[in-house]
Amino acid sequence: MVLPAHGGQPGRIAASIGMEAEGKVYDFSANINPIGPPAWLAEQLPRLMKEIANYPDPEYKEAYAALSRQEGMSAEQLLLTNGGAEAIFLIAQLFHGKKALIIDPTFSEYERACHAFDLEITQLRLNQSFQFPVEAMAQVVPGVDVVFLCRPNNPTGTFLSFTELEYLLKLGLETDTTIVIDEAFVHFLFETELFVKNLLTLYPNLIVLRSLTKIFAIPGLRAGYIMAGGGWIQKLQKKQPPWSVNGITAGLLPALLSDETFMAKTKDWLKGECEKLADHLSALGFLHTVSSVNFYLLKDGNRPDETEKLFGFLVANNIVPRHTDNFKGLYGRYLRFAVRSAEENDYLLYVLRKWREAS
Ligand SMILES: Cc1ncc(COP(=O)(O)O)c(C=O)c1O
Repeated sequence: MVLPAHGGQPGRIAASIGMEAEGKVYDFSANINPIGPPAWLAEQLPRLMKEIANYPDPEYKEAYAALSRQEGMSAEQLLLTNGGAEAIFLIAQLFHGKKALIIDPTFSEYERACHAFDLEITQLRLNQSFQFPVEAMAQVVPGVDVVFLCRPNNPTGTFLSFTELEYLLKLGLETDTTIVIDEAFVHFLFETELFVKNLLTLYPNLIVLRSLTKIFAIPGLRAGYIMAGGGWIQKLQKKQPPWSVNGITAGLLPALLSDETFMAKTKDWLKGECEKLADHLSALGFLHTVSSVNFYLLKDGNRPDETEKLFGFLVANNIVPRHTDNFKGLYGRYLRFAVRSAEENDYLLYVLRKWREAS
């Protein structure tokens, strides 16, 4: 059985376990905002048609001005990228042939990017409750050049605390180790959060990357950016291919970034759905991570060894979750679900209730 490496391909995921989901398919495999893309985006497309026939402004002046306003940082500290994925590969390229630390289970592209640029990887594991092994990390940090950390972590939704991060950053300063924080899901957080970007002025060994793809539900367009001081942006810029960000994304960015109503609506929806799901899933006896982002891990507390069977049952009921076979340290023991619309989450709970009744 060869399962796709990423979510968001419900037909392929179902086919890979020899099943075909008929009728409406509920795709819980890709953690994309179900409220997006913002409704006004379609109306803007005719205006943006002209961007298709022209090369984008190579300096992306308007997009940088909007991003710089949004983040309260100068454009010299920012690099627009073709999604978070390009950011990860650009950063790995800077450390070509050097040594990296990755904490599993996490987003698989750090490892792929490190392999692409011949980095030697040390891998540590989150503990049983998916917390970061800070002391073990502190032992490894002096011997590596770069650490890739996902915050909040995909797929567990857990965080390295701010205090722990500062502890590692200070250590990294002494040992010339750079810490990369991937904040691909930070825009979803509904809990009050201290922003890692505020540490950039204190720690020149910190690089922060973000994705706008998930929050605005634009995987077909792609958008991301890097925030860093310490001359990193200029080094990264040299590695980036020209016109890497397409003209439509660049043209939409000012309006996307200033859409506060969309952001507020997203956070309200997510908080309500996370609370509802947590209550119902626990009542049904499912073990799940408590998340303040738009995804969570789940397995049956009564039948913890039957995750593969549960996967098949869900697909047979037109629900496609994300398998965790290629997340090191999870090896398929859990399923990852995106938080979807109220109606879709209710359908998931209905099917999980059926599973429980059948057991
Ligand atoms: C943690 C993390 N970082 C980065 C990315 C890539 O972001 P983008 O889709 O903007 O390239 C993803 C996509 O799944 C992700 O989960």
